Amino acid sequence: MARCLIKLAFLSCVCLSTLLFSHALDFIRPNQSLPDGKFFVSSNWTFEMGFFSLDNSKNRFFGIWYKVIARGTVVWVANRDSPLNGTSGALILTQDGNLIVLNTANGNVLWSSWGNYTSSIRNPVAQLLESGNLVIRDEDDENPGNFLWQSFDHPSDTVLPGMKMGNNLVTGLDRVLRSWKTSDDPSTGNYSFLLDSHGFPQFLLIGSGSVERFRSGPWNGERFSGAPGLKENPIYTFEFVFNQEEIYYTIQLKNSSVFSRQVLSPTGILQRFSWNYRTQAWTTLTNSPADICDNYGICYGYGICDISIIPVCSCLNKFKPQNEEDWASADWSGGCVRKMPLYCKNDGFVKYSGVKLPDTRNSWYNQSMSLEECEKMCMKNCSCVAYANTDIRGEGSGCLLWFEDLMDIKNLGQSGQDIYIRMASSELASGEQKVKMIRVCTTLLAVIILLGLILTLYTWKKKQKKHKEDTQRQQELTREGILGGSVRQAHRVESNTQDAELPLFDLATILNATAYFSQQNKIGEGGFGLVYKGTLQGQEIAVKRLSKCSTQGLHEFKNEVILIAKLLHRNLVRLLGCCIDGEEKMLIYEFMPNNSLATFIFDWPSRFRIINGIARGLLYLHQDSRLRIIHRDLKVSNILLDKGMNPKILDFGMAKSFGGNETEAKTRRVIGTYGYMSPEYAVDGNFSIKSDVFSFGVLILEIISGTRNRGFSHPDHHHNLIGHAWILHNEGRSLDLINIHLSKLIHVPEILRSIHISLLCVQKSPQDRPSMSTVVQMLGSDGALPKPKEPGFFTRRDLFYEAETLSSKPSEGSGNELSITRMEAR
Ligand SMILES: *[C@@H]1O[C@H](CO)[C@@H](O)[C@H](O)[C@H]1NC(C)=O
Ligand SMILES: *[C@@H]1O[C@H](CO)[C@@H](O)[C@H](O)[C@H]1NC(C)=O
Ligand SMILES: *[C@@H]1O[C@H](CO)[C@@H](O)[C@H](O)[C@H]1NC(C)=O
Ligand SMILES: *[C@@H]1O[C@H](CO)[C@@H](O)[C@H](O)[C@H]1NC(C)=O
Ligand SMILES: *[C@@H]1O[C@H](CO)[C@@H](O)[C@H](O)[C@H]1NC(C)=O
Ligand SMILES: *[C@@H]1O[C@H](CO)[C@@H](O)[C@H](O)[C@H]1NC(C)=O
Ligand SMILES: *[C@@H]1O[C@H](CO)[C@@H](O)[C@H](O)[C@H]1NC(C)=O
Ligand SMILES: *[C@@H]1O[C@H](CO)[C@@H](O)[C@H](O)[C@H]1NC(C)=O
Repeated sequence: MARCLIKLAFLSCVCLSTLLFSHALDFIRPNQSLPDGKFFVSSNWTFEMGFFSLDNSKNRFFGIWYKVIARGTVVWVANRDSPLNGTSGALILTQDGNLIVLNTANGNVLWSSWGNYTSSIRNPVAQLLESGNLVIRDEDDENPGNFLWQSFDHPSDTVLPGMKMGNNLVTGLDRVLRSWKTSDDPSTGNYSFLLDSHGFPQFLLIGSGSVERFRSGPWNGERFSGAPGLKENPIYTFEFVFNQEEIYYTIQLKNSSVFSRQVLSPTGILQRFSWNYRTQAWTTLTNSPADICDNYGICYGYGICDISIIPVCSCLNKFKPQNEEDWASADWSGGCVRKMPLYCKNDGFVKYSGVKLPDTRNSWYNQSMSLEECEKMCMKNCSCVAYANTDIRGEGSGCLLWFEDLMDIKNLGQSGQDIYIRMASSELASGEQKVKMIRVCTTLLAVIILLGLILTLYTWKKKQKKHKEDTQRQQELTREGILGGSVRQAHRVESNTQDAELPLFDLATILNATAYFSQQNKIGEGGFGLVYKGTLQGQEIAVKRLSKCSTQGLHEFKNEVILIAKLLHRNLVRLLGCCIDGEEKMLIYEFMPNNSLATFIFDWPSRFRIINGIARGLLYLHQDSRLRIIHRDLKVSNILLDKGMNPKILDFGMAKSFGGNETEAKTRRVIGTYGYMSPEYAVDGNFSIKSDVFSFGVLILEIISGTRNRGFSHPDHHHNLIGHAWILHNEGRSLDLINIHLSKLIHVPEILRSIHISLLCVQKSPQDRPSMSTVVQMLGSDGALPKPKEPGFFTRRDLFYEAETLSSKPSEGSGNELSITRMEAR
């Protein structure tokens, strides 16, 4: 039957081709045209090319289709987005080796192969190969496999056997499949299918608006992680190639009379067909997405989809729905969250078997690492959430790391892979240990209850009395407004050395408020930990979570809590409470919507108002508050702005409290930020309120000039911003410090005065620097100012570098703004 068909076709085509190209049967040469109504057939009659139109349409396209079998099944279209009206089209090979689709009626070029060849081509020829590949090559090139251009590199919606689906990393060619608009309109439709190599390579099916629809999963040495059915079969062999030059997937037919093609349908399903001679129709072999669980991310982060269960989504073991109510009604948005948050340092990993690996778009990989090395690698980086082998063959090899919430996991049972997910150490306790612990706890509890009973009876009266006192105290606090509004049901922490009292929140409340410290809620990262945004009883809060990796955590935490709890000033960030749970320590601040000063540019009046606000906040710290506080890390990123753009000083973790008149001290631990530290502090570790004044001076200069002190460069000299300001001041050109567009004539005296004050603040000798009260006075009046002496840290850059080398290595790669800590053995 098949043979008969082919023979028939052969006969009819011999006539046709003789008619068309009386002698040049094999090639299209320059200036030869293939006009509408004439066809070019591949040499064994599998494919044919020419102009066609589809049902119900007068639009004409140039394309390639099957000839002997399935005549009319189009596999490639040239001018898909610029159809011809009428039959005046022609395909022409130009002398420079480009194929064009021309409207001969008006000379319009509707489509071109756009080959930008570097060398000139003497003898270009175009040819439709038996594989269905339309190629252009140089006939003088000895290697007939050297194509100048080929339609296989520019697919429409169909992948044919022999075609490479994927990317060429050398030429930058990305082959992308794009669906037809509808089954009778080949213009570009809503869906595309492509290889994504942003992380470990995987294929993605994308819908309109760049919405992911399906993901193949990464190649695991045997198959795509999400294609358990991809196995040896009688129809085709397959291969995934991944090297320095190319990443692609390709198939070859086993039997040349068994045909197969893969098409991205207008409805966004990637389908593989094979030709059925008996029914004379295409049989569907595979569909992707194949089932509900193939819909990208249906169960969202840390959810797992299992097609054999109703409903299909559940949370991975040791995770729970972010929103239980929504999940109960099969609304899985929000996905799952950890039952226990990660701590980073003592975390471990839990193995999950039989899954389709999650989205690898932001993953990291090394194909030569072992699983043990991989675990270490993941452990080292606090943002690494999971690891797996890249290749499952044999013992398994390679390392694949994930850094974001795990998306699009499917339960594949036996055909799935293993993945190791990071888990807080408390989740790792084995069942046996748990049983033991429970036994011990029960015994202890019994003893405690007995003792408690005796004690209760004994001290019953005493307790009653104390309770009364407590209630009284609570009422006083509420009146003072410390336990105001949203935090009424909070408890109190009492420190026995100081009478700090502060709302204490439990961990569950904070976890709820910050959606379990989700990545989306992370708003900052400081020297001592991460900062998250959250909502607590309708109020926006900022939660500073002290990193466990930091050795100073506990000390600074106590310091900050006790200090800030006592401070109330409009130019200081207000602490709402704190949370202590085991090793976990957190501070809860009011949330500042306008972010840090570091990110803004203002007109002069706002700048001046900000300078004044900071000065008043600092004055309060130094003098007017109950304690004398030296901030020690004043810098732009520690100044936040509220809704009214009022500055608020943040981060007292490094501040130090002094009793009485003590104003100066020496420390073994230098904490601060390069560029803001005074010379005596950076070099000798001597700090005083005058070192804050120095930092304030730098801050004024930075606010005025809009540039950073550290990293400042000028074409004429090597000085930093301080040195630059000093030179300009001495030359009477202080205004050159400011962006031209900012300087309005009326503000000039104020600007000059601010620069003058800043130079007084950064004087080399602490004794020469004014106190903050003097600074506030100076800013607010227009009396005469003393002449500034030479500033500290300006003359030579290397002096500053010297100070830097003295301190321990500036924390690697973490930018200039990070606070540093230096310990010195004494
Ligand atoms: C094609 O036509 C152009 C212009 O008519 C002519 O210059 C060129 O020589 C022709 N090429 C061939 C191969 O005949
Ligand atoms: C196509 O051409 C026909 C006849 O020339 C004309 O009537 C018709 O409006 C054209 N259609 C389009 C879409 O240009
Ligand atoms: C070739 O050049 C044309 C015109 O400059 C450009 O539109 C086209 O993208 C280029 N093609 C390639 C493959 O770089
Ligand atoms: C190839 O397929 C054809 C048609 O199904 C069949 O008749 C033929 O025996 C097959 N050839 C081989 C080598 O399997
Ligand atoms: C067409 O020709 C090629 C090369 O000669 C061969 O590999 C292929 O099997 C042929 N296809 C058919 C359908 O005969
Ligand atoms: C393609 O997207 C458009 C706009 O989003 C929509 O109206 C249309 O129905 C979609 N077509 C298909 C086949 O999904
Ligand atoms: C991958 O891991 C191997 C073995 O640990 C190591 O030698 C190699 O440098 C790593 N390659 C990259 C790019 O990290
Ligand atoms: C952790 O991994 C992320 C993502 O690859 C990277 O940006 C970050 O620099 C890494 N951190 C460390 C400490 O290596």
